[in-house]
Amino acid sequence: MKHSTVAELLSQVKKQNEIEIKGWVRTFRANRFIALNDGSTINNIQCVIDFENTDESILKRITTGAAIHIKGILVESLGKGQTVEIQVVSINILGDSNPDEYPIQPKKHTFEFLRENAHLRTRTNTFSAVMRLRSTLSFAIHKYFNENGFYYMHTPIITGSDAEGAGEMFRVSLLDAKNPPLNDNGKVDYTQDFFGKETNLTVSGQLEAETYAMSLGKVYTFSPTFRAENSNTSRHLSEFWMIEPEVAFMDLEGNMDLAEDFLKYVLKYALKNNKEDLAFLEQRLIQEDKTKPQAERNEMTLTEKLRFVIDNNFKRVSYTEAIDILRNCKPNKKKKFKYIIKEWGADLQSEHERFLVEKHFECPVILFDYPANIKAFYMRLNEDGKTVRAMDILFPAIGEIVGGAQREERLDVLKEKMAALDISEEELWWYLDLRKYGTAVHSGFGLGFERLVMFATGMSNIRDVIPYPRTPQNAEF
Ligand code: 4AD
Ligand code: MG
Repeated sequence: MKHSTVAELLSQVKKQNEIEIKGWVRTFRANRFIALNDGSTINNIQCVIDFENTDESILKRITTGAAIHIKGILVESLGKGQTVEIQVVSINILGDSNPDEYPIQPKKHTFEFLRENAHLRTRTNTFSAVMRLRSTLSFAIHKYFNENGFYYMHTPIITGSDAEGAGEMFRVSLLDAKNPPLNDNGKVDYTQDFFGKETNLTVSGQLEAETYAMSLGKVYTFSPTFRAENSNTSRHLSEFWMIEPEVAFMDLEGNMDLAEDFLKYVLKYALKNNKEDLAFLEQRLIQEDKTKPQAERNEMTLTEKLRFVIDNNFKRVSYTEAIDILRNCKPNKKKKFKYIIKEWGADLQSEHERFLVEKHFECPVILFDYPANIKAFYMRLNEDGKTVRAMDILFPAIGEIVGGAQREERLDVLKEKMAALDISEEELWWYLDLRKYGTAVHSGFGLGFERLVMFATGMSNIRDVIPYPRTPQNAEF
């Protein structure tokens, strides 16, 4: 007989003979009550043992973390907190867990401690809830694009071009690091390397996605991306997953409409499908808030925050308008910001983005038409000659969650821009070809997947929403 999952059994109401279940012991009380979890739901199922008829040697081995196989009868529960429970008929220990050594004891652990035990941390309610939500959101993303006529494209992880400019790159090389071959100029001779040229891990699949959008129309990537910046913040990873749709014949406004519709869809999907995980995470935040000073507490519960994004129109504001607001706002005048906004052209920091979203507009914000010189070379230049058709979406608690643009489709303008930034035409010949053969208006954006998971789960450190975070000085597991 195939064994059931905890989720399946908890959804039953009728008595059922001869059920089987396998899972890990969360707690074992009074030599009688096992709380068993198998990952299928945040809830445990209670298994009641007839301890007088169970071997002492078996009872001793029912410890937190042990894997067990139970055969029994599903009955209505008289205890509080569950509708059904299992009367154990037989119990088989599949894998012991030494209680003196097992790190995940049934008590509160700090997130720092759990990060050091990332291989076991999904055995806690918080991390299992976060990772189930991560899985649901991934699925919702594919579902959205599939329902809307997009093709899923796999962009390369190893790239031969470093012109994207989105960030520092990790080199991929088989040359002897201690004694690399040199060319006549005394520089490392990458023609002798594996690919015959310098290669790196990609920072974004966008440029390749653009090539496919210009033939398949609507495409998206959902891939790992890598950035070698030494930024140790709660919102940056060295390896993160990015979703990048790219659409032919779509301008910046269409891009904003798409991003807004897409974000609302995936959050709505999570709300509908992971109710119990979200309820648990919401309670966790409420408890956490009680330990904080009033000013740092969340004004909204987790569900309210999600509903707030789903139910409200995102406010669309030009960069120029935003700079005016920021220049004249209280924290800027009173020098409360770390970076004071002095003039048009300033790059926005997360503190400014969060002020706009959380204090000024009090809703998600789409900022557009940024100064050309703080944005990437491929963004379409506006008529004013100084701003580009860029857009960033800003979320409460997160700041920038999406970055995108309408792309420069005019060959001459693109070439001028590349020349000014010293980007080699030779290297990006294929990207320029798109502008030579059937060029057209097109746009896209990149959503940082972990920032979305942070928002949906209320977790405040990006290291806690990806199974094995890669950050400077850290690549354990
Ligand atoms: O704004 P970014 O750098 O945009 C691009 O890479 C474009 N090529 C996207 C496109 O138009 N197709 O990155 C996009 C998003 C950011 O808004 C942020 O959410 C996330 O990726 N992101 C990071 N997430 C975690 N760790 C990092 N180091 C991140 N850098 C960017
Ligand atoms: Mg960006």
